[in-house]
Amino acid sequence: MDRRKFLAYVGGASALAAMSANEKADALEQAMTDELENRVVKPAICTTFRREAGSEISKKPGQYFHMGHDPRLPRMSDKPTLLEFFEKRFGDASHLLQSARLAKINGLPEKIVLACLLHDISGRAFIKTDHGYFGAQLVEPYVDEEISWAIRYHQSLRFIPDEAVGYPYPEAYIRYFGEDFKPEPYIYEAAEYAKNHKWYMTSRQICINDVYSFDPNVKVSIDDFKDIIARNWRDPEQGLGYDNSPCAHMWRAMIFPNNFL
Ligand SMILES: [Fe+2]
Ligand SMILES: [Fe+2]
Repeated sequence: MDRRKFLAYVGGASALAAMSANEKADALEQAMTDELENRVVKPAICTTFRREAGSEISKKPGQYFHMGHDPRLPRMSDKPTLLEFFEKRFGDASHLLQSARLAKINGLPEKIVLACLLHDISGRAFIKTDHGYFGAQLVEPYVDEEISWAIRYHQSLRFIPDEAVGYPYPEAYIRYFGEDFKPEPYIYEAAEYAKNHKWYMTSRQICINDVYSFDPNVKVSIDDFKDIIARNWRDPEQGLGYDNSPCAHMWRAMIFPNNFL
């Protein structure tokens, strides 16, 4: 950012001189954000859950960088299960619980209810961008292939309406991205592929049951889905993160989200 612009932003050279290094860094970040036309959220790889303001790791003499269990987060056991991640890492999971509840009310098969329950777990505690693909990878070794496939493609199908099966373009997306927003070409390509696949409707049902506005008075608990999880999800014996699966490191990243290395 241009130095003169930044000085004007903070109120002049003397105001800048009175700021601490942390305040300067925050002011610079804010100034750069304000310069952009669109709202930008910080890259969210494992940093969104209960990260306190001002808790950025800083190196002071005699202070080590953080490694291992983070005392600011609920401590995970040595053999974490999916339920434990819901309890200790996914934060407010209302969106997932409400979507799964709706799928249940709509009489959909257990596979689809579980797909709805898991469809946005990447965005909850791992990474937001390309959350369908990352979410599918997270669950792939532990569920029926149809479930992970549906989670992967809900990301692109979300943007493509299919009125014939009861899915209009989400009103929320007009508020989020504006009237004229068009997703990247890879989203159209993936949706086109998904539309011609035998599991299209499984993935489409995730979109149809994706609840954006729900009654805050209806409380749904993960306990309501314990039986469906037990029948359709395979927790590894060694615990999620420790089973050497292709995605074990992704679960570990959620166990230890603030490791320096
Ligand atoms: Fe999603
Ligand atoms: Fe969703």
